[in-house]
Amino acid sequence: MTSWTSIEIATGADAAPTLVFASGDVVFAPDAFRERTASLVGSAGFDAKPGRWLDLVGEAGERLIVVAVGGESDADCWRGAGGHVVDAIRALQLKVARLPAAAELGIGDALASLLEGVLLHGYRLDQGRRDPVPGQFASKLLIAEEDGGLVDGARRRADPVNRARAWVEQPANLLTPAVFADEAEAALAPLGVTVRQLGPAELEALGAGGILAVAAGSENEPRLTIAEWRGAPERDGWDAAFVGKGLTFDAGGLNLKPRPGISKMKFDMGGGAAVLGAIERLALRKAPVNIVAIVPMCENNIDGKSYRPGDVITSLAGLTIDVQDTDAEGRIVLADGVTYAINEYDPGVIVDVATLTGMIMGVLHEDFAGLFTSDDALAASLSKAGDATQELLWRLPLVASMDYLVESPVADVSNLGAPGWFGMGTGSPVAGAKFIEKFAKGRRWAHLDIAGTGWASRRSSRCGPGATGFGVALLDRWADLATER
Ligand code: BES
Ligand code: MN
Ligand code: ZN
Repeated sequence: MTSWTSIEIATGADAAPTLVFASGDVVFAPDAFRERTASLVGSAGFDAKPGRWLDLVGEAGERLIVVAVGGESDADCWRGAGGHVVDAIRALQLKVARLPAAAELGIGDALASLLEGVLLHGYRLDQGRRDPVPGQFASKLLIAEEDGGLVDGARRRADPVNRARAWVEQPANLLTPAVFADEAEAALAPLGVTVRQLGPAELEALGAGGILAVAAGSENEPRLTIAEWRGAPERDGWDAAFVGKGLTFDAGGLNLKPRPGISKMKFDMGGGAAVLGAIERLALRKAPVNIVAIVPMCENNIDGKSYRPGDVITSLAGLTIDVQDTDAEGRIVLADGVTYAINEYDPGVIVDVATLTGMIMGVLHEDFAGLFTSDDALAASLSKAGDATQELLWRLPLVASMDYLVESPVADVSNLGAPGWFGMGTGSPVAGAKFIEKFAKGRRWAHLDIAGTGWASRRSSRCGPGATGFGVALLDRWADLATER
């Protein structure tokens, strides 16, 4: 079972080093400590910039840890501060630290964002070592009894993000498609989400030729996992379908990936983890929306049974695909996922999320996910949601004049972009989007390429290095914007 730990948050008033905060000259501390903290901060010449902290002794000999907070006092700034609290606790090797009451600190409900930041930054995947890492131990954060009610809210926001991160970090030998599907079911079904799994026989009967072709080279059977959240049962139909790429490992197939990139490819189900995490958040807060997540889960591997470059396969939609490169497998499984969404759910909007192209990182790095849609209103609502959750999107072109990118001489569509005069067009993120667009059949649809944002080499206000859970909070936020009426 994929599991993770984080800083334990409990209510209690035991004596422990006390966390207080500073932003520039402003100090957030209980009255009893405020003046002393401010004067020590001044005399120590502490420049309160995020990422710094100061370990002090108060008047009565108590230990105070001043954590710097960034800029404006918005939710993101306090979520970031929660991360710095974790860094301070770990660097100072504190087994317990105490957080004064929100009312004493003068930060009100922002404490919930701070706790969310603590849970997101305290996250660690549980796995991989028999012996404990020297110097690592569980830490506890004590909060005031009166703030106990804020912890649940923080958990409801952080847990789905952390679960998605844990899935992404879980190695592919431990998280096979079948395990991923079972774990999704175990996590979501108790929340009132209807989860179904289609295995190889059902996919065969359905005609999901894309998923089956990609999965053919692996011992691990594919799954199509479907998770329905009906939070507005009084309304007919489905507001949206989220389709997530769920490659538990992407070796590239016969177009085998070169080292060292191949060793990162357990992360290739980040889109699937994100859409399932979004459903978990919707269910935990009982959001009044009807949204289904559809995740084709499989492994792209190399074997005598692998699909071949040059094969022509028939997708669930009936469109034939010219497989010019077996490593452009994400778009193939998404094609079947999008078709399944249309056929079974007739959703108002489709959003697919996928670690689709390496090339997206050459332009947007780890900072923005690529946003592709020809629907301006949808682009605006997704961007707005991403701005609100600090999961930034950058819109890239998706225009009819570029249809030629995915034309094939032998089939309805090619899975490789046109090379162009310099030969660089093949791996294009735009070509990936154009391919999926063919299967969206003119419906309201957007594609998010999260190959760069799904994993972080640096920490951010949202999370530490490693899997980011990118998309979970964004899609959860978007669900409200999209159904506002
Ligand atoms: N999962 C990869 C995308 C990827 C590559 C993410 C490198 C992160 C780092 C995807 O399936 C893939 O292999 N894409 C190819 C597409 C190409 C063959 C058209 C790519 O980006 O090279
Ligand atoms: Mn690939
Ligand atoms: Zn892939």
